[in-house]
Amino acid sequence: MTDRPLIYAANWKMNHGPAAATAFAERFVYLTAPVPQRGLWFFPPSVSLAALTEAFRSRPDIRVGAQNVHWEPKGAFTGELSIPMVQESGAAVVLVGHSERRHLFGETDEQVARKTAAVLKAGLEPLVCVGETLAEREGGRTEPVILRQLEPLFDKVQAEHWRRVVIAYEPVWAIGTGRNASPDDAAQVHELIRFTAARRGVPGRLSILYGGSVNAGNVLSLLARPELDGVLVGGASLDADGWAELVGLGGAA
Ligand code: PGA
Repeated sequence: MTDRPLIYAANWKMNHGPAAATAFAERFVYLTAPVPQRGLWFFPPSVSLAALTEAFRSRPDIRVGAQNVHWEPKGAFTGELSIPMVQESGAAVVLVGHSERRHLFGETDEQVARKTAAVLKAGLEPLVCVGETLAEREGGRTEPVILRQLEPLFDKVQAEHWRRVVIAYEPVWAIGTGRNASPDDAAQVHELIRFTAARRGVPGRLSILYGGSVNAGNVLSLLARPELDGVLVGGASLDADGWAELVGLGGAA
């Protein structure tokens, strides 16, 4: 369908401990083969990072990542995980500022930017999430909200690090609701993000994924828009057979 690079990212949230993650990986490896230009990213709970990394070791097209990290490398932060720790467990990428972190756990735009900068400094790649709530969209505030969320990133991320940043546009009202953004709406926000980044001096073209109720039935129409560089998927990524089917749909295979 496309020959541009696409990333399919699976956010498992608080699902799949080490045994379930390993079983998933064994089935997924059996069902799929690497496809040029298709990257597969998995964000398991951190306790499953090492098991999943090991289970995918034969697959250079697959990268495993953490769902969250602290920006400090070590210290008295009970319950937190540092970047060196998740790296040691196999993480090459880190999800930063997912809407559940922002809205359920009070993560601020400033903290998201600190985490992003720390991930980059450590040599990993952040997948930074932004997105408006339903009230914000209905109030016509999508644009200022996205700009507010991005703003601290422009201050904290060094110019030479931007090429390793991937953004995920995930409207909060679309996450886990079965109601995805239309391809046009998603494309419009992706363009806003790219335009803003360029205006703020970010070099090159930013890679931006869409997330929020992506499934096998809507992924093709979303990825038909060249503004989208891939998808970040929660619910539809939890079953190995279903996820293998979904990532096979839009790829160049
Ligand atoms: P969903 O979740 O695909 O279940 O809507 C997406 C996400 O939270 O990243």
